[in-house]
Amino acid sequence: MLQLINIHKSFHDGESDLQVLAGIDLDLKPGESLALLGSSGSGKSTLLQIAAGLELPDAGEVRMKGENLVTMDEPDLARLRRKDLGFVFQSFNLLSGLNVRDNVLFQRRLNRMPDRDGWVAELLAGLQLEAIQHRPVEVLSGGQQQRVAIARALAHRPQLVFADEPTGNLHDSLSRQVMALFIRLVEEAGSALFLVTHNRDMAAMTDRQFRLSQGCLGPDV
Ligand SMILES: Nc1ncnc2c1ncn2[C@@H]1O[C@H](COP(=O)(O)OP(=O)(O)O)[C@@H](O)[C@H]1O
Ligand SMILES: [Mg+2]
Repeated sequence: MLQLINIHKSFHDGESDLQVLAGIDLDLKPGESLALLGSSGSGKSTLLQIAAGLELPDAGEVRMKGENLVTMDEPDLARLRRKDLGFVFQSFNLLSGLNVRDNVLFQRRLNRMPDRDGWVAELLAGLQLEAIQHRPVEVLSGGQQQRVAIARALAHRPQLVFADEPTGNLHDSLSRQVMALFIRLVEEAGSALFLVTHNRDMAAMTDRQFRLSQGCLGPDV
């Protein structure tokens, strides 16, 4: 599904040189979930962005469906992201000006998938979005926005979901329940999951846990 081979990445900032990723190898099978832990600034988001083809590594390969994302051209990358990938970001990044339903269906429509479908109905019901589906996303609470972001990431049943701190800045027990529901829905969708989190409870819900430290990936101990 996803294979990272010897990924290197540094940032050059004036005089100083910051090596963030120093040869990362990682293999994620179809339907498998992993959690990436690590302190703030350790490079978790950088690795996720590279794995999703949103940022280029200095060296290394990102293989997905037999292709190397590093050398793929932008239209092919965009097509792959639209069809096969789903994203949940810390800030949720909902499309303002659209209501809940249009946000959830956005990527399905780009893929010419029908609006009405059992899976969409299950997502809207499971995430308790039915009653608010016609509301503009701007007026929603943080917890509601989080649930919309999850539904949107899964609605087109992507092969792989990337989630970067999907708890956002929500730290209550309700948010923990929503995270458990998120992991369950990813499983039901049959998607693989690449999860970045500092929350060990949430990390423990995935198949494998890794820790990023000093540019290297190790088991979480
Ligand atoms: N575009 C960039 N330019 C310069 N430095 C960056 C850039 N993106 C990230 N960094 C630096 O790389 C390090 C890792 O960042 P990041 O991947 O966001 O860490 P994490 O997600 O683990 O908190 C940090 O020191 C950050 O400041
Ligand atoms: Mg980050």
